[in-house]
Amino acid sequence: MYVARLSHPADYDGWREAARTAVELGIPPEAMSFAVGEDVANLFAEPLPARPQAPARRVTVAKAFPELAGRVVCHSDPQRFDLAYRLLWRLQSEKGLLDVASDDDVIAAVEMDKAVRRDSHKMKAFVRFREIEVEDGTRHYIAWFEPTHHIVERTAPFFVRRFTGMVWSILTPKRSAHWDGADLTFGPAASVEDRPKDDDMEALWLTYYASIFNPARLKVKAMQAEMPKKYWHNLPEAQLIEPLIRGAEAASRRMLETAPTLPSFRHERQAERDEMAKVAAEPRTGNQPATIEAAREEAKACKACPLWEPATQTVFGQGPDHAPVIFVGEQPGDQEDLAGEPFIGPAGRVFDQALATAGIDRAQAYVTNAVKHFKFTPRGKRRIHQKPNVGEVRACRFWLEIERDIVKPKLIVALGATAAASVLGKSVTIRDTRSRLIDLDPTTKLLVTVHPAYILRLPDPEAQARETEAFAADMGLVRRTVPEIALA
Ligand code: URA
Repeated sequence: MYVARLSHPADYDGWREAARTAVELGIPPEAMSFAVGEDVANLFAEPLPARPQAPARRVTVAKAFPELAGRVVCHSDPQRFDLAYRLLWRLQSEKGLLDVASDDDVIAAVEMDKAVRRDSHKMKAFVRFREIEVEDGTRHYIAWFEPTHHIVERTAPFFVRRFTGMVWSILTPKRSAHWDGADLTFGPAASVEDRPKDDDMEALWLTYYASIFNPARLKVKAMQAEMPKKYWHNLPEAQLIEPLIRGAEAASRRMLETAPTLPSFRHERQAERDEMAKVAAEPRTGNQPATIEAAREEAKACKACPLWEPATQTVFGQGPDHAPVIFVGEQPGDQEDLAGEPFIGPAGRVFDQALATAGIDRAQAYVTNAVKHFKFTPRGKRRIHQKPNVGEVRACRFWLEIERDIVKPKLIVALGATAAASVLGKSVTIRDTRSRLIDLDPTTKLLVTVHPAYILRLPDPEAQARETEAFAADMGLVRRTVPEIALA
């Protein structure tokens, strides 16, 4: 029988080194044991010999094993190191062992893995620091936490990332972790007496907790599942839970009685739709310019909504006076505002790429926007795009009507919901209208698709690739509907 001594209860590095040596030496699991620190080992066990220079066998493991073993050795079960070693031993001849969900060793390891993850999650959620002042005036933050498993080492880096600028210690009955602003170190177990009792932070935390407590959303069972009672005695806010629960019903009634009557989201959407429908029904007035050039000249002085003022210039549509297709975007972006031309920035590049994929010649199309001024909020040196509101779309719809009257396209392509709302005079969803040819009048059809900026904003590359393809497919439909727009 052999024994390997590990330096602390979650000493994965020590276990890995010893386990590797033992496999290389051909020591089967029943002849191998592990002991932590000075713990008494099997009286007849000999220390594990040094790693052989020329091992009889090479250790190989499944890819998922190191991570699994790393968590298993953090479990509080005294058999954890033996179990991890037995798995390592068996994996040398049973390559697919970890996929055998009915294997007793695999079942035990998976259960330990889950328990350790859960415990680590609880530590992240329930550690509460208390502020203490040490002699030289520096502030030190101390937390007391009682984990079920040996998770302090693996969870402490989370607190380093969260509280990098603070000097803190997390004390637990298993281990303690200390961060001095530069180094993370671990020490022995602490006792509950080491924990400081009260501080200002705690008072603040209590006030905060009581103020975010929403009696109308009280779900006692769910709350106890997330914040099990065993953690309550270390959470300052826990002392508030019982009285808050008791007072919840009355507080909830008071909330209902005194709640402001804000319109619901559905009502707001309805009001928006009504507004759009009204705009669609309004007759157009005034002398209309006969050419795009004349309209562009007139639009330079447009002050129909407040967006003209902070913007650099009106960005009018571009393209032949009698193009067979009008593409309508939302509003010019930062680069379009400076250059005075639509769709030349990042969204424009996505648009150009989709046209190229579909074999469409942009020079033969008329490209414009529902709103002709850039709407933004300044942030430092940057101008951050803001979505135009119904009133702004409404005010600018006049110009889109003029463009439609002059160009008389066979097809209008609305890029995004704002463009679709402006063309139709009512709000629609992209989901309900996309990729279908809709009759606007006997000679004009409408195709609704996404805005190219939507594709740019997708964080997941796979979704981006999928949406780029779908957008190019919509452009393919444009080309089939209006073949004269194809690249020569
Ligand atoms: N987004 C738009 O909707 N239009 C542009 O011209 C540029 C970006």
